[in-house]
Amino acid sequence: MLDEQFYMVAKTFQGLEEVLAQEIRGLGVQDIEILNRAVRFKGDLKILYSANYRLRTALKVLVEVESFPAKNDIELYQGIQKIDWVRFLEHSMSLAVECVLFSDHFSHSQFIAQRTKDAVVDQFRDRTGKRPSVDRENPDLLISIHIQDTKVNVLLDSSGTSLHKRGYRSQLHLAPVNEVLAAGLLLLAGWNGKGNLFDPMCGSGTFLIEGAMIAMNIPPGTFRPNFGFEKWKNFNPDLFTEVADQVEQNANFKYKIVGSDKSSKSLQLARESIHRSFLDKKIELVHESIEDFIPPAGGGIMITNPPYDERIKVENILGLYRLIGDRMKHFYKGYQAWIFSGNPEAMKSIGLHPSKKIPMLNGPIECSFRRYDIYEGSKKAKYQKPQSR
Ligand SMILES: C[S@@+](CC[C@H](N)C(=O)[O-])C[C@H]1O[C@@H](n2cnc3c(N)ncnc32)[C@H](O)[C@@H]1O
Repeated sequence: MLDEQFYMVAKTFQGLEEVLAQEIRGLGVQDIEILNRAVRFKGDLKILYSANYRLRTALKVLVEVESFPAKNDIELYQGIQKIDWVRFLEHSMSLAVECVLFSDHFSHSQFIAQRTKDAVVDQFRDRTGKRPSVDRENPDLLISIHIQDTKVNVLLDSSGTSLHKRGYRSQLHLAPVNEVLAAGLLLLAGWNGKGNLFDPMCGSGTFLIEGAMIAMNIPPGTFRPNFGFEKWKNFNPDLFTEVADQVEQNANFKYKIVGSDKSSKSLQLARESIHRSFLDKKIELVHESIEDFIPPAGGGIMITNPPYDERIKVENILGLYRLIGDRMKHFYKGYQAWIFSGNPEAMKSIGLHPSKKIPMLNGPIECSFRRYDIYEGSKKAKYQKPQSR
């Protein structure tokens, strides 16, 4: 179905492309090209399975099938019909098509998806007398069409549901950080399990769980019920088992991972997800407000995303960020503190000078990921007068 070596595209969040490329290098891949919100790379079926199972910062892994020029839906239809779809499909399988459009030559992505589906189904019927069915919710083969100007790229989605769906969440928090984004922020922060980790506003515990999985080398795909490629014609279960068995987990993680939140409801969600990921013994939860929480001694990394006053409304948002800054200055010595927020105004109220500022996007919200070094002993954290309201 696929040649020995083929090109794949892993999609990610804006700002995480370098981190993703680094992860892909870690799979042993050399042929890598960084794109906008994506990384393109070459590999074989084993790399495809590994990419889905092991990449913490990939949202999807797509396989390139063909590309051709087209200026209208007739040329699109003809281009799709030239592909040998019997290589990828059987009449008993279902398909769906999604389309991403950056072109003035085509106006409706839904129409393009429809024409692509027609071209595949017509070819099948003409050649075999039978046709595959369409299942938009849970297809056996998801075809992804990307059109940039007049260039049509035809790809197959090997992941199925987005890879941020790790399989450890039962219910959603009101404002959870996406699992892929959380893992990417932890890797950007240099988290490698050599020290303590805490989140004083942990919500449903995403940073804690992703942090523990990184520290213990637990692959992000461990708890996922399935991947798209498992329904493909060429699925090789032995190879997939080999990929999963190849990972050596690190059970010797000796530091502390602690989360706290003022909301008992949030902590309940965190507890459930921690339990579902078998990390109950590795992560400690405390029901405390940031006003009272004291981190474990010994230093390490603090990472948190406080409310932005968007989805979670806060009465005095500047006062809350000022309080975070005060707690950091007085109680987080020896820690490198990282704050991810979509409220730059409020971030100024932290009143400490960030040693690093990384612009990021969280969905449509422009965010900033900032590092504050809180030194032990004589070297004090650089202090800025907080802005008053
Ligand atoms: C944006 S959410 C964090 C979401 C979390 N990263 C997750 O993935 O689920 C912010 C959290 O801050 C908590 N919070 C707000 N004010 C707090 C305070 N003063 N002390 C501790 N937690 C607080 C809220 O209960 C909420 O769970």
